[in-house]
Amino acid sequence: MSEKKLGWGVLSTSNIGRIAVNPAIQASSNGELLAVASRDEDKAQAFAADLKIPTSYGSYEALLDDERIQAVYNPLPNSLHKEWTIKAAERGKHILCEKPLALNAAECREMEAAAASNGVKLLEAFMYRFHPRTEKVLEMIRGGALGELRQIRSTFTFPLDRPKDIRWDAGLGGGALMDVGCYCVNVSRTMAGREPVEVMAMANFLEGGVDKQMAGTLRFEDGMLAHFDCSLTMERSEVYHIQGNDGHVRVQNAYLPGIEQAVIEQFDVENELTTLFVDGADEYRLMVEHFADSVLNGSPLRYSADEAALNMKVIEALYKSARTEGEIVEV
Ligand SMILES: NC(=O)c1ccc[n+]([C@@H]2O[C@H](COP(=O)([O-])OP(=O)(O)OC[C@H]3O[C@@H](n4cnc5c(N)ncnc54)[C@H](OP(=O)(O)O)[C@@H]3O)[C@@H](O)[C@H]2O)c1
Repeated sequence: MSEKKLGWGVLSTSNIGRIAVNPAIQASSNGELLAVASRDEDKAQAFAADLKIPTSYGSYEALLDDERIQAVYNPLPNSLHKEWTIKAAERGKHILCEKPLALNAAECREMEAAAASNGVKLLEAFMYRFHPRTEKVLEMIRGGALGELRQIRSTFTFPLDRPKDIRWDAGLGGGALMDVGCYCVNVSRTMAGREPVEVMAMANFLEGGVDKQMAGTLRFEDGMLAHFDCSLTMERSEVYHIQGNDGHVRVQNAYLPGIEQAVIEQFDVENELTTLFVDGADEYRLMVEHFADSVLNGSPLRYSADEAALNMKVIEALYKSARTEGEIVEV
């Protein structure tokens, strides 16, 4: 890895930046967090003081004008991902953008094109993919440990008790599928290693259009099914199961395993359990280090913006199905 450090700037005083990504950049071996911007100058200053970020700006534009900043972390509400990612790309900044990358696949494609035409990197911040346990599960599947894949089941639910949260606002790109179901879609496609051909879903929508709960199914060409559920109004649960004709694995605390030792439960065809242990890690730090390494050394990103657009395409199809009471929708 290079001795050089990537100069980062962060758009907004977001909660996820505060608790996870900004500290990960600060702890990273190949990056430094130079500045934060907020729509409100006082907020930016207080945030910078709390997190020991050397520079603060009272507008996102001002941060983009800072020539020391090579990469931008974009954790704005989902409806603003496209606008500020494209603005950053046009200023020659590389962008790590929060999940889901945008509101739909067409927006993802515009962002991808802006990054390509300005010669900058763009990565969707699905951090769980950088945890060594996720990599281990992928390696097991690709190595044939489960035989031929038949079914994937995944869940991501939690109780969102902040009434003013961006996730309750359809205009900001809120909703259970957008916020947490997107992980289920992502883990299903990533583990399957291919794209679904059709989907169906049912959801409970609130007045205003946000889904507070959804259950859905993805069908793949060879008949493999991936079903999932997500919610903003239930107790926390994060799990996925991957079943093949030679056994299955169950992965609990699926997306945020944390830095403690992580577990994979592997069951054979007789349902005999073997528990595998994987070292814990800060998946946010591994993600920002991977991104910075790719920028500094020109190595390819493990996940492309095209891949993010495909995830969004499935999410769009699921919303279409849920709005028609479970009609089957082609992806
Ligand atoms: N990868 C993960 O683990 C993870 C976890 C949680 C969230 N996320 C993603 O991160 C993003 C932010 O989520 P969050 O929970 O951190 O949200 P949040 O705390 O509400 O932060 C969003 C920030 O956007 C800025 N903003 C600009 N226009 C806004 C508007 N019209 N309404 C509200 N805020 C506005 C605000 O900062 P200023 O006032 O400072 O400008 C606000 O602090 C989302 O895309 C979400 O899906 C990812």
